[in-house]
Amino acid sequence: MQDKVQSIKAEISAATANSQEELEAYRMRFISKKSVVGELFAGMKDVAPEERKSYGQVINEVKDLAEAKFKELIDQLNQQSAGTHTDHIDLTLPPVSGSLGSVHPLTAVRQRIIEIFERIGFNLSEGPEIEDDWHNFTALNFPENHPAREMQDTFFIEKNPDIALRTHTSSVQVRVMENQKPPIRTLSPGRVFRNEAISARAHCVFHQVEGLYVDENVGFADLKQTLYHFAKEMFGKQTKVRFRPSYFPFTEPSAEIDITCMICGGKGCNICKGSGWVEIGGSGMVDPNVLENCGIDSTKYSGFAFGMGIERITMLKYQIKDLRLFTENDVRFLKQFTPMS
Ligand code: PHE
Repeated sequence: MQDKVQSIKAEISAATANSQEELEAYRMRFISKKSVVGELFAGMKDVAPEERKSYGQVINEVKDLAEAKFKELIDQLNQQSAGTHTDHIDLTLPPVSGSLGSVHPLTAVRQRIIEIFERIGFNLSEGPEIEDDWHNFTALNFPENHPAREMQDTFFIEKNPDIALRTHTSSVQVRVMENQKPPIRTLSPGRVFRNEAISARAHCVFHQVEGLYVDENVGFADLKQTLYHFAKEMFGKQTKVRFRPSYFPFTEPSAEIDITCMICGGKGCNICKGSGWVEIGGSGMVDPNVLENCGIDSTKYSGFAFGMGIERITMLKYQIKDLRLFTENDVRFLKQFTPMS
């Protein structure tokens, strides 16, 4: 018995482990239940009662020794593997350069639109995304219960009094007109919300940019000239603009804005459905009722307004066929865009 203990102790002291496998072999031989040390404990039952105490002391010593050695072997092995890692760093390799993010196409296009209008004297205005009925509808000449309200499927948050997510950035124009005196020349970009099913062509959240110009003697010619200028700056010199009669409660007369299809140059293709024209937004002369609702004398002042979808302009500019790509955050899509100059 004494001999056996001595030889186990000697074996433990001499043990080494240069790999995980060797460490595991050590654990099996000296630590696990079925190890030689475990066997010593199992032998306790064959020991005469008066010798049990001293036997117990001896085998506990062996167990402590085996465990202390096990810890030592683990530490050694960890140090060794850390060492091998540092050995493998090749300091002569050039560094991997971090990749830079790109500007989201919607942000780039919004920025470009702002730049174009700022140069001709428009300032920027912003307003809340959660709006009351007055700023989103009533002040804009949507009579209560009028079917025109159905033109824009609204997300209501509260009823009576109505609070909703704004359906257009025209609400910002109301706030500007209420708080400033003409001349007003302002541009309001922002997020808008409509209760529409998401598809390649429609989304419930999108971006608009709306322009407003109020002063003495503002006429439809000013509106046309401003939008001609915008279209040429945004899409190129050869771009033509046409105005189609339309209806909005807050403008009279109202017109839809079309530009020549930049894909086919006006010859007709599947993007413009053969017509040579694509729509980019709505516009018109601010209805005198709206000016009066906002405290502006409509006998003295007149104004024009226009509104465009930023997604729509981006899709036309970059020939993007599915609106959902803008919000999926697929880096393969985003990587294709670099900031516009
Ligand atoms: N607010 C309108 C819309 O969301 C667009 C528009 C703005 C039309 C200004 C005319 C004048 O559809």
